[in-house]
Amino acid sequence: MNLAVMLNIIARLLFFESDINVFLLILLIVAGVLGVAYALRVKTINELNRKLEDTVREKTAELMNLNSRLEIMNAAIDAEKEYFRVTFESIEDGVIALDLEGNVILVNKAAENILGIEEEDIKNYQLVALFESMLEDNDKAKSKYFDVSDFDEFISMKNVQMIINAKDQKRKILQVNSSEIKEHDAVQGVVFIFKDKTELVAIENQLAVSQKMESIGQLAAGIAHEINTPLQYVSDNVNFLDHSFYYVMEYTALLKKTLDELDPPESVKKNIEDKEKEYDLEYLKEEVPNALEQTHIGIQRVSRIVLSMKDFAHPGTKEKSYYDLNHGIEVTANITRNKWKYIADLELELDPKLPNVYCSLDQINQVILNMILNSVDAIDEKIKAGLYEKGTIRIKTENREKDVEIVIWDDGIGIKEENMHRVFDPFYTTKEVGKGTGQGLAICHDIIVNKHKGRILINSRYKEGTKFIIRLPNSEGAF
Ligand SMILES: Nc1ncnc2c1ncn2[C@@H]1O[C@H](COP(=O)(O)OP(=O)(O)OP(=O)(O)O)[C@@H](O)[C@H]1O
Ligand SMILES: [Mg+2]
Repeated sequence: MNLAVMLNIIARLLFFESDINVFLLILLIVAGVLGVAYALRVKTINELNRKLEDTVREKTAELMNLNSRLEIMNAAIDAEKEYFRVTFESIEDGVIALDLEGNVILVNKAAENILGIEEEDIKNYQLVALFESMLEDNDKAKSKYFDVSDFDEFISMKNVQMIINAKDQKRKILQVNSSEIKEHDAVQGVVFIFKDKTELVAIENQLAVSQKMESIGQLAAGIAHEINTPLQYVSDNVNFLDHSFYYVMEYTALLKKTLDELDPPESVKKNIEDKEKEYDLEYLKEEVPNALEQTHIGIQRVSRIVLSMKDFAHPGTKEKSYYDLNHGIEVTANITRNKWKYIADLELELDPKLPNVYCSLDQINQVILNMILNSVDAIDEKIKAGLYEKGTIRIKTENREKDVEIVIWDDGIGIKEENMHRVFDPFYTTKEVGKGTGQGLAICHDIIVNKHKGRILINSRYKEGTKFIIRLPNSEGAF
């Protein structure tokens, strides 16, 4: 109520009715006091409201601030997660983490690729069983590393080399490391990190083989040079003796004829006849030329081998150029003669129309050498199995339209159907330890297919024989 209106009412009451006035006055005073109290209360409530609003505004601002900090933190965590994911996925080594029950909890892409199996399938496996199913037989025997009961070994493998047959059917050499995952000093699981070292080992071996070949080549060239000089005068002297013996025989025949014409006394005749018998002149006349002829053939053979030794792995043939493959094959057949001559015949059917081929002759010689040695081993195995006494190796060359073809065939023990797809794998060998390294055909494949853009095909029947067909483009850049 407005103050002026209230005063107006009070004045009117005071002037007109005094008893009632007193009562009304008291009433008015009470009302006034109540009014003032009410007004004061309203004011307090308003103030409290304002304060409350201020506090709410303050707290809201604080909350908003907190919220945006939380959002920033969440974004940072997401970014870190993504960073971890990308890093994890781009590690070229396989990484698999296990919990203490052996369950796979983390697998990266490289692990899938190396083991030839998808993440989901890896997770379905117990890792130990997975690795054990892939280990080579000889590795299985010593698979202590996957013996979980020996926990210390299991969680602390350091550069352990394993050969596995991965689920994509490829034979791989892995280098495995493992270590425990700890949280507040308590072991929570194990992480395996493994590298696929197959190619690296193959390259190292190939390098070692070519270095060996190179040093053999250099050694052979040196020895060949040393042998060549004396061989030359031995050959000249044999020729000289051959001619001289012929002259001496001619001269002796003339002397004998003249003597017969002069008709010397009986005692002289007898003396001469006795000497003829004693020295067996008839025999010498026949056999000395034969002996000299054989010596001559022998010297020619030695000289051919020496020449081949010089030609084989000659440093000059390392670089690619146009080479006569037929000659390379003859050379290789010659230097391996000692390996095959007792157990096999080696037949060459070399196409005289073969064009020179753009290649590294050094490497092609190495391929032919590996193939001949494999054939020798296959024939040897068949002989030892009592299936025959002597085998045959045949090397044929042919000029085809776009390429030249080299066929290396043998009638040795052959390859079992189920092993055919593995023969080019590095380290695959059926030979006893120390005899074969399983590198020969892997190197041949690399030389023909990768280094010369050629092809290599295989055809084999167990107990019957094996045929390798090599096709090389006959000019640079063909295929
Ligand atoms: N001509 C062949 N006849 C039968 N089996 C063969 C023949 N060539 C190769 N093989 C088979 O292929 C496997 C692999 O051959 P590869 O030449 O790569 O290795 P290796 O001969 O065993 O050893 P290395 O050549 O390193 O001494 C051989 O162990 C053998 O089982
Ligand atoms: Mg071999």
